[in-house]
Amino acid sequence: MMMKSCRLHCSIVAVALFAALLSAARSEDVSGPVSYKDPKLPVEQRIEDLLGRMTLEEKVNMLSGTGFESRPNARLGIPAIRMADGPQGVRIPLPHPRRAARAGGGTNAPSAGAGGSLSWLSGMLRDPSIPTTAFPSGVALAATWNPDLIERVGRTIGEEARTLNKDMMLAPCVNIQRAPQGGRNFESYSEDPYLASRMAVAYIKGIQSQGVIATVKHFAANNQEFERGTISVKMDERVLREIYLPAFRAAVCEAGVWSVMSAYNKLNGTWCSENPYLLTEILKKEWGFKGFVVSDWSAVHSTLETVNAGLDIEMPKGEFLNRELLLPLISSGKAQQAVIDDKIRRMLRAMFTIGLFERQDSDGGPIDTPEQRAVARAAATQSIVLLKNADGVLPLTPRKVHSIAVIGPNAGAARVGGGGSAMVRPIYAASPLDGIRLRAGTRFRIGYAQGCAMEEEGAEKTTSEASADLIQEAVSLAATSDVAFVFVGDSSRIESEGFDRKSLELPPGQNELIEAIAKTNKNTVVVLAVGAPVLMKPWVDQVSTVVNGWFGGEEAGNAIADVLFGDVSPSGRLPVTFLKEWKDSPAYGHYPGENGAVGYDEGLYVGYRHFDKQNIEPQFPFGYGLSYNTFEYSDLKVTPGKVAPNQPVQVSLNVRNSGPRDGAEVVQLYVHDVQSTVDRPVKELKAFRKIVLKSGQTQTVSFTLDKTAMAFYDPAKKDWVAEPGVFEILVGASSRDIRLKTSFDLTP
Ligand code: BGC
Repeated sequence: MMMKSCRLHCSIVAVALFAALLSAARSEDVSGPVSYKDPKLPVEQRIEDLLGRMTLEEKVNMLSGTGFESRPNARLGIPAIRMADGPQGVRIPLPHPRRAARAGGGTNAPSAGAGGSLSWLSGMLRDPSIPTTAFPSGVALAATWNPDLIERVGRTIGEEARTLNKDMMLAPCVNIQRAPQGGRNFESYSEDPYLASRMAVAYIKGIQSQGVIATVKHFAANNQEFERGTISVKMDERVLREIYLPAFRAAVCEAGVWSVMSAYNKLNGTWCSENPYLLTEILKKEWGFKGFVVSDWSAVHSTLETVNAGLDIEMPKGEFLNRELLLPLISSGKAQQAVIDDKIRRMLRAMFTIGLFERQDSDGGPIDTPEQRAVARAAATQSIVLLKNADGVLPLTPRKVHSIAVIGPNAGAARVGGGGSAMVRPIYAASPLDGIRLRAGTRFRIGYAQGCAMEEEGAEKTTSEASADLIQEAVSLAATSDVAFVFVGDSSRIESEGFDRKSLELPPGQNELIEAIAKTNKNTVVVLAVGAPVLMKPWVDQVSTVVNGWFGGEEAGNAIADVLFGDVSPSGRLPVTFLKEWKDSPAYGHYPGENGAVGYDEGLYVGYRHFDKQNIEPQFPFGYGLSYNTFEYSDLKVTPGKVAPNQPVQVSLNVRNSGPRDGAEVVQLYVHDVQSTVDRPVKELKAFRKIVLKSGQTQTVSFTLDKTAMAFYDPAKKDWVAEPGVFEILVGASSRDIRLKTSFDLTP
């Protein structure tokens, strides 16, 4: 009896205390000068001041957003964080159906429902967005191998976000390209964690330099769209650390990213949004992340687990992190106040740091300015990869070439980007045909033929007679032209968020078209617009020239013309291996998974690591790309030859432009751990530099390597370990074109 009444008394006291907490500070006047409103005070002081004034209800209210905004607090003057999708530019869906209808469909807009099972996603894909500058997609940005340029892209996107009154970009996407089918490969940077890290850091620094929060996504191991909302990705700790986490770690530790988005999938059986190992142990404790974790849209599945695991804000609404579900958990002590406070601190820290409380809305300004467009064009031009130029057909020379056939389903259409939340609708977009016509002027005769219909854009309804006519028209044009360009590849309905690619082949009809043109005109140049590897048999051996233009954003057509006409020597390099057949892929046999799980059984051997280990000849290797120039590598030196633990290693070499034109080269440095007690890849990219050299010019390129270039992750020690022994340094123009080698000794 005594016990019972004591318990009753205690709970009455607890409820009374809780009620007092809820209403604390409610009557306080904050209209005058209070500390948190003073931008001159240190951020941490402002946070504590504001936190002390918030009621528990107000705090809980901030743990979920609405649509694309966090919840503001009118009483205390806490603004909303206004978010926009990326990463190809600022994507803001038009909110109102009537406005949407007035604006018409977007360039390359996918059909309704392309997003698969998530109904809100199919809605989003249907809705056109506000026109903004469309930059090349993630993989294309990585193909530039130019972090300085990517930082400029990030800056420009941040600038546009500010003009449009957005405070946070849901970008970049740094997930590793594992299986070539991955629907969002186009959005991601690379198969290689080091390249992805360099791109992520540059892009994030650019965005955040404009006072806009960047969001690195999707944490972690969201590498396929197949069952992305439910699948459990299984991999071991070393693989997670060495392949799938480095770009996130670099985003946090090097770029100081303010937001991390948790992924839809599970990792080793636990949802990423309620994964304490990922969100608290690694991200917040080990990496010291000071910002906040935002859920992917509808990726939350629980209240208590999610709150305790380290997720800070649920989007796009509070299905689980709401007052009804959370307040009782707090009052019963299951969820700690301190945990809630930590979440608010994290959001406020980002908001104060970017100056959100002092921010005046812009009343709009120019979007897609000539300067912004120039950045998009530079990125598109530098992303283009010349894959084959066996007969020197490129660059076009007006002396030899007078007539050009522009053929293909991607010739007259601007393939700006892939589909889904990354799809940006530009104000204008140049198709390859536009770009070529503009550049050619009256000096060349330009003819155009579609050649074949595009899948999901009428191909299904085209009769076999109509298809034969389309090919015939293209063949006749090619027969009477000096050069035939065949523009093929995918569209945003084929490569998109929400589903993986059905096939690695080019869409139906395109192989046949290329073969027919190649038989007719020996100067056939195939130009791809794809966001991921496609199979190129049999035509790759029948044509002399192949170019990959990716999904190059709004300037893709002009950028292609820059390269085809030789105004710019191509300097893009593959950030992902192009394979000859599916069975060559490291994911073969371990994709897409079954019974709700996918095992990453290839382990560390993703991308070129697999092709090297298995000694498989890729169609085109990682890091590969030709130019109109030749470059000579010489004088590779490493100092010191014997390296003490934690001592940096200096590597230098000379690179000479031995070709006839000015141009850029991408010098790549790979490391091979020769003596190791654990299995290690044959080589791993650890440094690179894009340099621009005048014809005849020589430049010394220097790199500093530290322990991170030598270490592997040891799960037993829970640390990175660089074992003593010989390390080989391999420098070259691609992962399969190593020009110089040397080595050093790491001493015990
Ligand atoms: C995507 C995210 C995106 C979010 C908001 C989700 O479907 O996975 O990358 O930022 O939608 O549009």
